[in-house]
Amino acid sequence: MSKAFYVTTPIYYVNDVPHIGHAYTTVACDVLARYKRARGYEVFFLTGTDEHGQKVEKAALAQGETPLQLADRVMKRFQGLWEKLNISNDDFIRTTQERHIHGVQEMFELLQKKGDIYLGEYEDWYCTPCETFWTETQLLNGCCPDCGRPTEKLREASYFFRMSKYQDALLEYIDAHPDFIQPLSRRNEILGFIKEGLRDLSISRTSFSWGIPVPNDPKHVVYVWFDALTNYITALSYPSNSTGNFSKFWPVDVHVIGKDILRFHAVYWPTFLLAAGLPLPKKVFAHGWWTVEGKKMSKSLRNTVEPNMLVDKYGVDPIRYFLLREVPFGLDGDFSHTGLIHRINSDLANDLGNLVSRSSAMVNKYFDGILPEGVSDKEVDKAFIAAFTEALPVIDNHICNLAFNKALQSIWELVTRANKYIDERQPWALAKDPALKGELGAVLYNVTEGIRLIALLVAPFMPETGRRMLAIVGADPENIMLEGHDSFGELRPGVTVEKAQPLFPRI
Ligand code: MSP
Repeated sequence: MSKAFYVTTPIYYVNDVPHIGHAYTTVACDVLARYKRARGYEVFFLTGTDEHGQKVEKAALAQGETPLQLADRVMKRFQGLWEKLNISNDDFIRTTQERHIHGVQEMFELLQKKGDIYLGEYEDWYCTPCETFWTETQLLNGCCPDCGRPTEKLREASYFFRMSKYQDALLEYIDAHPDFIQPLSRRNEILGFIKEGLRDLSISRTSFSWGIPVPNDPKHVVYVWFDALTNYITALSYPSNSTGNFSKFWPVDVHVIGKDILRFHAVYWPTFLLAAGLPLPKKVFAHGWWTVEGKKMSKSLRNTVEPNMLVDKYGVDPIRYFLLREVPFGLDGDFSHTGLIHRINSDLANDLGNLVSRSSAMVNKYFDGILPEGVSDKEVDKAFIAAFTEALPVIDNHICNLAFNKALQSIWELVTRANKYIDERQPWALAKDPALKGELGAVLYNVTEGIRLIALLVAPFMPETGRRMLAIVGADPENIMLEGHDSFGELRPGVTVEKAQPLFPRI
């Protein structure tokens, strides 16, 4: 039986166009998905769009189109960007799809049958932009505590979910699963929130109509977060949950989200699942937020970090690299063009690019581009090989913990190590003495084989670069499997090593 791995991005609202924050989450999930595939897992990587709710209804009205027209249009922009960023998602769910609507209604009815959904009346302060009700005490000067905009008092008939009933069960789960909420600092924040006491949750609205109708009471539409969160299982064909993808991939290995939507994923969603009698997610990881050149992202600034433009200007791999290298996943970070250019020049053009071009040039110069044999029992050579063997489990651990910047740091330590090895072994000096031809061959074999391993490690982050590096060293660029191919010495002597053009132009 193959090992299964399920990773999700949030589904993105269609009332906004894709920006660097969305690209960040999606690239991170893509790296994880690609790495796990390379490790032999059967991966299901899901992303999609969140298309219901009052915000979308209002945005459509403002543009003079129907909500579905708006969704169709903006959804394509997300899909287009994911193609451009080389995102390898296995499915793309839209909450307006029949498979999803059906699943949400089934889930709603199931909880109703179990007595966990009841009809009541709701009165509270509502923030339309955030689609959130607030209690009087939560308001800040009468305004939404999240976005600071004015709220309005709303009273409406509403279905309620007995979230309060699951408070203890949720606390027990969090307690028994220390990895459930990541990073750790966020876990305490959520525990604090739960311990203040969970209120029953209003999960239907009558004040607008762009949503999934409540079964048997179509005046109500299902609350947008109940609708949206359920995408993680409707994409696995829920409610057919005994067969196919659901049984293979649920519970999810990790929901990757931004810190602003952690409460929905670490409190609401697990209580819905508890009520439905379904297993809870193994992990919810909340990453930090990007500012741009020191400022909070805003519509006017957004143009400068429009992801499509960034890719056109700098190339897809450098952008993917920068997003995950610059800031520890989980902390906030700042996007700046100077930072980006610095990373491209120093890490990519200098460190990695130089390693590949100088090594391939030497194999061409001293061995006509034919990879020599690599046998040596010198300590210095053995130490070089050992650096790779030791780094692999460390890098694996970092990626599995979503510590992408640490993983890249460790990979770049190998790049630096390889550059240093060349300086230590001075192939140009060995080349002067014909008696040392064997030793020269061993050194160049080791460096080339090191590049092959670095290529495989780099490939989940920078798929095109990984493949190009493999082609340069004479390995199969289509085989990016790490599992079974990560021991030092796989590259066969006798293959042709290209004389490589620079991998990354300096900017
Ligand atoms: N539709 C909901 C999610 C439902 S999931 C069941 C939603 N959509 S969103 O489009 O507004 O946001 C999607 C993600 O983008 C969130 O995880 C959010 O944290 C992330 N980001 C939005 N702005 C961001 C930054 N400036 N920086 C990093 N991520 C940011 O919420």
